[in-house]
Amino acid sequence: MTDKTQDWIDIAPLDAVPRLGARVVRREGRPDIAIFRTRDDRIFALEDRCPHRGGPLSQGIVHDCRVTCPLHNWVLELDTGRAVAPDEGTVRRFRVRVAKGVIQLARADLVDGNGAGETGCDAEAGLERCA
Ligand code: FES
Repeated sequence: MTDKTQDWIDIAPLDAVPRLGARVVRREGRPDIAIFRTRDDRIFALEDRCPHRGGPLSQGIVHDCRVTCPLHNWVLELDTGRAVAPDEGTVRRFRVRVAKGVIQLARADLVDGNGAGETGCDAEAGLERCA
């Protein structure tokens, strides 16, 4: 695991994302990323595209460690990107952290084809777990 400064890209001050809200990181030619902030100031990053029919998760309702999609009310876990049963599907996660009050995304996850994926990265920096 590396934690060099250049491995992380500054996105926005933490206060730019309201508690129980989200903001979008737009990327030219690539899927947008939704940054979510929980009531207790945990930050998560998911592709801003619901695995059901592509709804904008950033416009959903954040509650506990989940977001409810605004289109058809699927509920997704913010830490895994997985839909809550009985729905099935997973949205891509991105490693995110807050350093000195600034939200940062892992540079390696922003390259097409990369990302935290579905499993296997839980021990890496920037992937929080919901209790
Ligand atoms: S597009 Fe998200 S629940 Fe249908």
